[in-house]
Amino acid sequence: MYLRRLRAIQLRNLIEVDLELSPQCNLICGQNGSGKTSLLEAIYLLARAKSFRTNRLSRLAHFDKNAFAVNGEIEHDHGVHKINARYESRELKMMGGEELIKRSSDLATLLPLTLVSTDSHKIFTDGPKQRRKFIDWGVFHVKPPFLDAWRAYCRALGQRNALLRHESVGTVSSWNHELERMAIEIDGWRDEYIAKLTAHFLPMLRSLVDLPDLSIEYKRGWPPNISLSEHLLENQDRDLRLGYTRDGPHTADLAIKVSGVPVHECASRGQQKLIISALHLAQAALFAEELDKPCIVLVDDLPAELDAERRSYLLKLLDSLGSQVFITAIDENDLDLDVFSHSKMFHVKQGVFT
Ligand SMILES: Nc1ncnc2c1ncn2[C@@H]1O[C@H](COP(=O)(O)OP(=O)(O)OP(=O)(O)O)[C@@H](O)[C@H]1O
Ligand SMILES: [Mg+2]
Repeated sequence: MYLRRLRAIQLRNLIEVDLELSPQCNLICGQNGSGKTSLLEAIYLLARAKSFRTNRLSRLAHFDKNAFAVNGEIEHDHGVHKINARYESRELKMMGGEELIKRSSDLATLLPLTLVSTDSHKIFTDGPKQRRKFIDWGVFHVKPPFLDAWRAYCRALGQRNALLRHESVGTVSSWNHELERMAIEIDGWRDEYIAKLTAHFLPMLRSLVDLPDLSIEYKRGWPPNISLSEHLLENQDRDLRLGYTRDGPHTADLAIKVSGVPVHECASRGQQKLIISALHLAQAALFAEELDKPCIVLVDDLPAELDAERRSYLLKLLDSLGSQVFITAIDENDLDLDVFSHSKMFHVKQGVFT
């Protein structure tokens, strides 16, 4: 599965771009402000129906316009799928061929994609929500029933929280067993996913950087050795005081540490970038292993913060994935192109690609 053609119209400074892409490595080079990240944003939009830079899709329309469009042709084993994204009248409409795509989860399976952006290191400093999103992207793909279980959990959680807010002491616990039933599934799938992810991640990280004392620990969101319903019952008074359910899979987290210290408090910027890259590439490798098809990988400004040796290791790792890869860089000389078995290079200047 790969994106063989991409058209972007009036998306930021990309007035009209139409590219035939390589099924393997696509390198996008150009000066600051030329449109490299905007191109990744266009691909991301096709895959996720949103941007990774802003929550306001209107920002993606060229300054003079209030509409934009992105079209993609995806080559699958069974033929070509077209995805069209069109934003106008403050609304994004996604079409898969002739059909309207209503849920972003349907889109995610059409064009699975993982992104290493220049903000990805924030996963270490932002709250646990970003880390859960990272885990759940993977779990969703390898265990499709996860989505329904998660939605059922959130519904039950909403009900329990409403009772807590209304101080309905007698009925709060009525949701505990439903929450536990879903929590067992969600936690089991996450736990299994992280074990498999770690098995890919650690060797990848070792091939990039020497950080032998790095540990990765999944925290399920409530204490070990106790069922969720028992824990909720024990802490019901506290939850009533707070007015919401404090613990459960909705507070799960991933603790990544070096010698017992959180990554952002000890690893260098370059090391953080390598850790985050290895996490995403491990996700792509696990995706390919479990689903028997690759996902697309985007890496924005790959050379930034990395020395020549590290850049070349990272490129080698990307090339070994068997995924279609999009890499941006300011200067093509910062990338050791000999690493790639097959690649296509695009130069972009003021939104125009050559
Ligand atoms: N809505 C918009 N309409 C037109 N141009 C825009 C819009 N939003 C941003 N731009 C401009 O588009 C250009 C491309 O931005 P982009 O972030 O893609 O650059 P880049 O090549 O990734 O640069 P850098 O190397 O600095 O990261 C910039 O000059 C930016 O100011
Ligand atoms: Mg950029």
